[in-house]
Amino acid sequence: MILDAQHPLSSGLTADSRLIQAYQGVRPDVTPVWFMRQAGRSLPEYRELRVGTRMLDVCLDPELASEISLQPVRRHNVDAGIFFSDIVVPLKLVGVDVAIVAGKGPVLGKAVRTSADVDELTALDPAILDEALAPIRDAVSRAVSQLGSTPLIGFAGAPFTLAAYLVEGGPSKDHIHARTLMHAEPKAWARLMAWTADVTGRFLRAQVLAGASAAQLFDSWAGALSLADYAASVAPASAAAIAHVRDLTYSVNNVQGNVPIVHFGVGTGELLKEMHNIGADVVGVDYRVPLDEANRRLGGAVPVQGNVDPALLAAPWPVLEAHVRDVLERGRSAPSHVLNLGHGVPPDTDPDVLTRLVSLVHDVSAAE
Ligand code: CP3
Repeated sequence: MILDAQHPLSSGLTADSRLIQAYQGVRPDVTPVWFMRQAGRSLPEYRELRVGTRMLDVCLDPELASEISLQPVRRHNVDAGIFFSDIVVPLKLVGVDVAIVAGKGPVLGKAVRTSADVDELTALDPAILDEALAPIRDAVSRAVSQLGSTPLIGFAGAPFTLAAYLVEGGPSKDHIHARTLMHAEPKAWARLMAWTADVTGRFLRAQVLAGASAAQLFDSWAGALSLADYAASVAPASAAAIAHVRDLTYSVNNVQGNVPIVHFGVGTGELLKEMHNIGADVVGVDYRVPLDEANRRLGGAVPVQGNVDPALLAAPWPVLEAHVRDVLERGRSAPSHVLNLGHGVPPDTDPDVLTRLVSLVHDVSAAE
């Protein structure tokens, strides 16, 4: 489907931005940079807005969600905004009993542990999201109207990461119940993954149709899986989730493009190739695998995103600077590179360090 003429990719507002160029495999004049979790607790203006509110209520308030998405763009001069929301928002909207507990993460009213639990969950009809996602579409279009030529990235959780929360009932270290269900009840697992792909795919598509210029799928907990389990029991559902945005194209000055899709996971060094193969354009790399090695594993033809170690944000500046220069240097081996962290911004990060890091990346890469 071709995006409508007002979409910032179709209108030409964001199609030539550094971020979209790099995501399309073209190396722009300057390496683009944004940070996972750039919107959130590292910013005093975010903490101020959040006083007395619940996370999921804020996600469903279009004015607040758009304002919080814009805060880090105003402050840091990053090359992209990321939509402020959470991976569990579409679960909440389809009718799942889920809350986000401060300092902990998503917690479910009831864990989905058996085939009967899966039947009960999947009886919730994903089609109701078409209407229920209205506040998300509203928030995205408000943010996009303020961002001008800076692209907004839409995102969603990958089916495995969402299923990990659903099956565990909350955050978990090794996701053992999810991995047990995968093998003990393979048919129920397949139903769970297909349903989750539909729910999360609709959330992602709604953001792109409302004006997001790129889409990122977060499979944060896929690093708990073996390559064999990932390929057999997870990758098909991630491909199905991505298929919700894979058909979206734009045409500007007679040049056709597709909405770029980024796929990121933590501890997924063994899975990089598979994570690309499900239909992603760009692979996000965590801090464990250097970018030149990630590029080698990906076959040398895939744009990469990453991978400054978030731990170094709190190290003395010369230590961080040397690390960032090394990341940029290794990133030069790939066709193109978007600088990011290897995971999210830690909540206690000094925001001035992030601002300084953005100008370092722009200065160093412009001089190359
Ligand atoms: O700036 C951005 O990156 C956009 C906003 C964003 C949030 N969550 C806001 C949020 C994004 C992209 C996410 C994705 C997300 N949510 C992931 C994938 C990315 C990753 O970090 O691996 C995951 C696994 C979740 C689930 C989740 N939600 C967790 C683990 C937490 C943190 C728990 C905590 O308090 O440390 C949340 C809550 C959450 N989502 C917060 C924010 C800003 C913190 C809530 C608060 O401010 O109280």
